Amino acid sequence: MSNDLVRFSVAMPEELLMSFDQLVARRGLAKNRSEVVRDLVRDALVEDECSTPGIVVMGTLTIVYDHHANDLQEKLHAIQHDYFEEIVSSMHVHVDQHMCLEVIVMRGETGLIQGIANRILGTKGVQNGRLVLTTTGKFM
Ligand code: NI
Repeated sequence: MSNDLVRFSVAMPEELLMSFDQLVARRGLAKNRSEVVRDLVRDALVEDECSTPGIVVMGTLTIVYDHHANDLQEKLHAIQHDYFEEIVSSMHVHVDQHMCLEVIVMRGETGLIQGIANRILGTKGVQNGRLVLTTTGKFM
């Protein structure tokens, strides 16, 4: 696969283009329209790849919870031991007197990683959270 750049033209409504140019400006001087389009295409390809069963992905799950909630820390700890092969690392931050933030980094088959995340997010006492999946994006 060649890394030579290929030009193509894109048609879009003027208002959409104006909004896109504002996005390009927010991304800073180092980015131009072409680079931002490439970033967006890569994001879409990674997102599509992450939804393909059987693909190995990296996942970061961020959760927020009250550490006073019943047995919650022990439950979260037990779940993470159940998946010691997939859970690569975790970071715990004490947000204030009550609330904790945890970032759990995982690697594995996309369906399994989403299942682990759902189990953690579904644990009573976890107030909110979000899973972000990514790949190395070999198609770059
Ligand atoms: Ni804490």
